[in-house]
Amino acid sequence: MRLKVLVSVTEDWAIGKDGAMLVGNPADLKRFKELTTGGTVIMGRRTLESLPSAKPLPHRRNIVLTRADLSDVEGIEVAHGIREAKNLIGDGGDAWIVGGEAVYRSFLPCVDECLVTLNHVKRPDADTWFPDLDELDNWELAEREEGGTTPDGTAFEFLTYRRV
Ligand SMILES: NC(=O)c1ccc[n+]([C@@H]2O[C@H](COP(=O)([O-])OP(=O)(O)OC[C@H]3O[C@@H](n4cnc5c(N)ncnc54)[C@H](OP(=O)(O)O)[C@@H]3O)[C@@H](O)[C@H]2O)c1
Repeated sequence: MRLKVLVSVTEDWAIGKDGAMLVGNPADLKRFKELTTGGTVIMGRRTLESLPSAKPLPHRRNIVLTRADLSDVEGIEVAHGIREAKNLIGDGGDAWIVGGEAVYRSFLPCVDECLVTLNHVKRPDADTWFPDLDELDNWELAEREEGGTTPDGTAFEFLTYRRV
C-alpha cells in the first residue's frame, strides 16, 4: 500500500480556518485534480463538509473518516478508523491523504511522501495546522519547484518531503 499526503500550507503550516482553506490558489487546485482524478482520496468528515455542496470529489474513490454513520451520503465509502480505511484500500492499493488536520495527523505515521504546496504568507489566525515537517527529524525536503503566484499575489512553491 502506498499512501501520500497532498496539502496546501502557509509559511507557518496553517491549513484552514472556519472549515475553509486559507489561500485561493487555482494552480494548486488544478494540480490536486490532475494528481487525484481516477484514484482514491481519504478525507475527514469535516473536509467532506467543506467541499462544494458537501459532495464527494467526482471521478475519484472517496473514503471518509468518521465515527458517525454517514451511510446515507451518496458516493462515499465510510471508514471508522485508520485500520478500516487501510482495509478498504487493500495491500496493493494507493491513496492520497487529503486532510484535514485530524486526518493528516492520524495518517502521517503511515506515509512516506508529502506533496506540500507552500504559499508564502503567514496565517496565525488559522484554526487547523499541518505538522511542521522541517521540525521533525524523520522528514527531509527532497524537491522544491517554483509554483508561481496566486491571483491575489501570493508566491508559492511545490515541495516534496520524504521520510528518512
Ligand atoms: N490546506 C489543505 O490542504 C486542506 C486540506 C483539507 C482540509 N483543509 C482544512 O482543514 C480543516 C478541517 O480539518 P479538521 O481537522 O477540522 O477536520 P477533518 O480532519 O477534515 O475531519 C475531522 C473528522 O474526521 C473524523 N476522523 C478523523 N480522524 C478519525 C479517525 N482516526 N477515526 C475516525 N474518524 C476520524 C471525525 O469525524 P466525526 O466527527 O464525524 O466522527 C473528525 O471529527 C478545514 O478548514 C479544511 O478546509 C485544508
